[in-house]
Amino acid sequence: MTIDPRLSDSSSAEPVTEDGVFLADVWDGLAAKPKVLSAKYFYDAAGSALFEQITALPEYYPTRTELRILDERGPDIAALLPKGAALVEFGSGSTAKLRRLLRHLPDLSAYIPVDVSGAFLTEQAETLRADLPDLTVEPVVADFTRPFTLPDSVRDRPLAGFFPGSTIGNFEPGEAARLLDVFGRILGPGATLVIGVDLVKDRAVLEAAYDDAAGVTAAFNLNLLRRIQRDLEADIDVESFRHRAFFNAEASRIEMHLVSRRAQTLRVAGRGFAFEEGESIHTENSYKYTLDGFRALAARAGWSPLEAWTDSDGLFSVHALRRDG
Ligand code: SAH
Ligand code: AVI
Repeated sequence: MTIDPRLSDSSSAEPVTEDGVFLADVWDGLAAKPKVLSAKYFYDAAGSALFEQITALPEYYPTRTELRILDERGPDIAALLPKGAALVEFGSGSTAKLRRLLRHLPDLSAYIPVDVSGAFLTEQAETLRADLPDLTVEPVVADFTRPFTLPDSVRDRPLAGFFPGSTIGNFEPGEAARLLDVFGRILGPGATLVIGVDLVKDRAVLEAAYDDAAGVTAAFNLNLLRRIQRDLEADIDVESFRHRAFFNAEASRIEMHLVSRRAQTLRVAGRGFAFEEGESIHTENSYKYTLDGFRALAARAGWSPLEAWTDSDGLFSVHALRRDG
């Protein structure tokens, strides 16, 4: 199944892993004012491994809370999926959440994890195949914000979507709505999408989750500079930057930045980028929603709310949506 390129405003279908696209994005981002880099570039092999460490941190409540909701609500979720469904997971990472859901989904016919982190995805899919030989596992290495192709083997099966982890929060609300609409076109009218969405809460809880005491989130953020240094022949003193994360309440988002400790010029593939002391590169947003705020965003993108579940502390939510039409 090929997605109509017109569904995307991207001018290129090249995979994000190609150094040319990465370099162009880094040059554009470092030339912008304020400086910015896309959070999707966090996820090389080292970045995916660091993210897995983040999910186990005491301060990082989203993963364990969402897993608990999936455990408790598995039967309700299963009831909303068609028999023999092929489940497409966007930004699957370690596939840990799918494993948790699977015990409630005996009728699932195929699993299609889609992720930009190629080596990590391939390794995860191989382990899953070995553990579950009866499940068809068809990984797709792709940037889901660009046109990509689903495997032929799932063409005739009813599709359902799974987008856990609140990865939707890493997109500006307008981009998030556009992405949900693209997912709806991929999955088709009447399809169900199960999506994890982090909730607005106390600033201290939010900020600790993105600036943990062990410094793992700092290492995850700084790994982006290491990736640029390694993949793009850049001359960067990584130690000359520090991690900064804070809750921007007005925009309802955590912002992550890499702050230059001194005035300096970074050289990336022959081009220089000047930094003042204290100037930062904005590397990630992580939007936090209310239940109704997220329902409204989904409705704008052509999805109707079916159910929404939260934990007893109201930290995190899992929504089931139905594609209109
Ligand atoms: N779903 C997992 C992982 C979340 S981390 C969980 O809930 O724990 C976000 C994942 O999305 C990473 O594996 C990253 O590689 C992937 N990702 C981020 N941006 C992406 C993009 N544009 N296209 C495809 N995958 C992306
Ligand atoms: C993948 N994504 C939802 C994570 C988040 O919480 O926004 C990425 C992350 N960034 C720092 N810690 C975790």
